[in-house]
Amino acid sequence: MRRVQFIEIHDQPWFPSFLRDQVTDDLQVLLNVGKPYADIVPQLREGIERAGADRVLDLCSGAGGPWPWLAEDLERSGLHVPVELSDKYPNACARGRLQSNCAHLHYRDESVDARRVPRGLGGFRTLFTSFHHFPPEQAHEILRGAVASRQGIGIFEIPGRRPLTLLLLPLVLIADILVVPFLRPRPLTRLVWRWVIPIVPLVLFFDGIVSCLRAYSRGELRSLTSGVADSDYRWEIGCIQRGFLRLPITFLVGYPPSQK
Ligand SMILES: C[S@@+](CC[C@H](N)C(=O)[O-])C[C@H]1O[C@@H](n2cnc3c(N)ncnc32)[C@H](O)[C@@H]1O
Repeated sequence: MRRVQFIEIHDQPWFPSFLRDQVTDDLQVLLNVGKPYADIVPQLREGIERAGADRVLDLCSGAGGPWPWLAEDLERSGLHVPVELSDKYPNACARGRLQSNCAHLHYRDESVDARRVPRGLGGFRTLFTSFHHFPPEQAHEILRGAVASRQGIGIFEIPGRRPLTLLLLPLVLIADILVVPFLRPRPLTRLVWRWVIPIVPLVLFFDGIVSCLRAYSRGELRSLTSGVADSDYRWEIGCIQRGFLRLPITFLVGYPPSQK
């Protein structure tokens, strides 16, 4: 299947922010059922340690992705790192919720564009379920940015151009209408956008299909990294497939030699 660069609705500037926040909220809940990203802890930990980073800067954070539990898992594995979340369109409700419930997380309130991370923002960069948003030139810019600022980077993607992943998407639509409001109870006004005018589940479903169609394969990630010239910087590319569903997770981890 060829990669298709189409648009996702939720990250269009014209999409109302109150709906965008609900889409990323629901994505956060759905993607954390069964914690599929738990399988990447060894790769993430190794990347952070090899880069010698003492903090993490998560880009494209949406409603927090896996971080509410992932930071605790890292800590249990012996690695304590403060985690800063950021987004081009920060999710204000999620920021409030995360900051009062998760002491180890801080969510920046200003917009941070993953393609142009401000100089002062250090730390091992992570992107969960979001690298596919960027066409090759911008994806390349993100990798170049990490290399130029001598920061490590970890990219982890469940979306993929694979039949299994695409076949699960109708379940996302059904689960978002029938299950998510009970997993994280919603105020009545929010239920309107799921049960009366189901715009939130439909955008999740549509964006889920587009995400899968524009996800990078391992070969494409390899050619993106080969264009970033720096002989010191190391790249690791792979795919992990564990757990009950054996849902593949593609990863790209890059790090400069440790400064420590
Ligand atoms: C599919 S969501 C993923 C959210 C989260 N990482 C997760 O795992 O649930 C993609 C996020 O990327 C953000 N985004 C899109 N373009 C961006 C950019 N250029 N810089 C930073 N964030 C961006 C969107 O606002 C959205 O929150």
